[in-house]
Amino acid sequence: MRGLIAIATVIYLARFQASSIDSSRKGLDDRCISDRRSAGTRARERLMKTLLEDYMKSVKPEPYDGSPLQVNMSMSLLNLDSVDYKEAIIETHSWVFMSWIDERLSWNPSDFHQVKSIHIPTDYIWIPDIDLYNNDGDAEKPISDMIADVNSDGSVTYVSELHLKSLCEVGQQAMKVVRIARLLGFDEMVCKLKFGSWTYDATEMNIVTTSSQVNLLDFRRVSTDEIQVKSTSANVDQLTFNCCPNPYKTATFTIVVSNEPKEPL
Ligand SMILES: *[C@@H]1O[C@H](CO)[C@@H](O)[C@H](O)[C@H]1NC(C)=O
Repeated sequence: MRGLIAIATVIYLARFQASSIDSSRKGLDDRCISDRRSAGTRARERLMKTLLEDYMKSVKPEPYDGSPLQVNMSMSLLNLDSVDYKEAIIETHSWVFMSWIDERLSWNPSDFHQVKSIHIPTDYIWIPDIDLYNNDGDAEKPISDMIADVNSDGSVTYVSELHLKSLCEVGQQAMKVVRIARLLGFDEMVCKLKFGSWTYDATEMNIVTTSSQVNLLDFRRVSTDEIQVKSTSANVDQLTFNCCPNPYKTATFTIVVSNEPKEPL
């Protein structure tokens, strides 16, 4: 009898212990689930919710003074995918950088665990409808323009990686250059990539180029090494179309290419 009681007590105690271990483990699990987010993650989630709750992505941000929204643009040329002298077409691979201020996306970092910048998928926020005007038609569309960088002051930076097929302008000046170049035994082509908004005219959007050149720091040499980028420039024009009373701002990136022979003449 004593033995039985002893065994029963042992079993009871063992059970009790087991169940208390279970319940403490369960408590630990609950804590793990609720604490799986770090303070930084929780701050970012709260920030994202705060910024995007009442955000309407179809509405262009308008500066407080009612002026046109300034969109900064610059271009980095990565590669010349092809250069067609006969048709005067070049295919470029480039990064196009755009930045602007969207006051709706500003915050005070001290309210959000000192988070100063976040990445927001472009599906959620307003992005300028800026595209290449003098497109050859069957150009590939942006491939990796999925995420924008947003800083606490509301500045948004958006980079699109573009494979563009663009017609090169052969104007009077360019013609002259081409003719001289032909006499010297090489061809030169002046190609202008004109970017502008499809819907926002100059009263609503002001495009600014932040550099007077196309950035060539990341330019990889083309496979046929006789093709060279001779010079580049970047500037802003104002175009008026027959359709519409107001002018449109355009950023023009000019790339001058030549196929100078390797052997000097
Ligand atoms: C746009 O460029 C100007 C200088 O060119 C700079 O002062 C300004 O901060 C830029 N704006 C944004 C939103 O990047």
